[in-house]
Amino acid sequence: MAVWNLGSVNIDHVYQVPHLPAPGETLAALSYSTGLGGKGANQSVAAARAGAVVHHIGAVGPDADRVLARLRAFGVGTDAIRITDTPTGHAIITVDAQAENAIILFPGANLLPDRDQVEGALADARVGDFLLLQNETSAQAEAARIGRERGLRVVYSAAPFDVDAVREVLPFTNLLVMNEGEAAQLQAALGQVPPVERIVTRGAKGAEWHSPSGEVLSVPAFRVRPVDTTGAGDCFIGNLVAALDAGLSRPEAMRRASAAAAIQVTRAGAGEAMPDAADVTAFLQD
Ligand code: RIB
Ligand code: NA
Repeated sequence: MAVWNLGSVNIDHVYQVPHLPAPGETLAALSYSTGLGGKGANQSVAAARAGAVVHHIGAVGPDADRVLARLRAFGVGTDAIRITDTPTGHAIITVDAQAENAIILFPGANLLPDRDQVEGALADARVGDFLLLQNETSAQAEAARIGRERGLRVVYSAAPFDVDAVREVLPFTNLLVMNEGEAAQLQAALGQVPPVERIVTRGAKGAEWHSPSGEVLSVPAFRVRPVDTTGAGDCFIGNLVAALDAGLSRPEAMRRASAAAAIQVTRAGAGEAMPDAADVTAFLQD
């Protein structure tokens, strides 16, 4: 099977800072680097490195040669990424001494995907393939509808949280993935927990898979010393989908996703920090 991912592609500008800046503060960074990012691209890289066949659907600008080359080097299919005249999305990421981050996002070309692009890309998708969606692109609701009609398994990460997007995508979602903050926002916005399969990631407190019947499957987080948590959630999702696509059971998929995220936070960067399947297997054997 394959994983189709309508998702953002960003160039991340990462600044290591002593603390996150306060209003009015001028803060000198301790280091600066650029890397591959965007929740969508991060998830695609994570899933591809975990062993899945991944086709990324998205849009970038004329400045994206390096980014596309990086995606391909990580094994992500880029045929369905449109090159446009709008600049590639980018993120300004500050990471503090506790490995916490604050992100400013410029969506750029990520807001260009439309129904036609998605429809064209998914022409080759097969029943049972996965369709991954997040909130950093346009057309996720259209994609969800098309995906569901074609028998794809729609996995939706409600990040960054956007209540209108959630309302539109949820009816076509097979599996909803949120962090704790997003789960709280969803509950506040909808007044109830929607009756879908859903995963809540809770950082160092682990992750939970809730079934509509009320069953809860919990996996603890592995204890590590984090360096940079940027993209850890994306890593979890990419690995989870790759594991489910490979036919692993839910507990095993959750365990591998959790291990992958633990490895990812010990490495600087987002997309470039994704572990591969061998890294995860070795980590679980230790
Ligand atoms: O989830 C982390 C990602 O969010 C970063 O890579 C950044 O590009 C933003 O999209
Ligand atoms: Na990281």
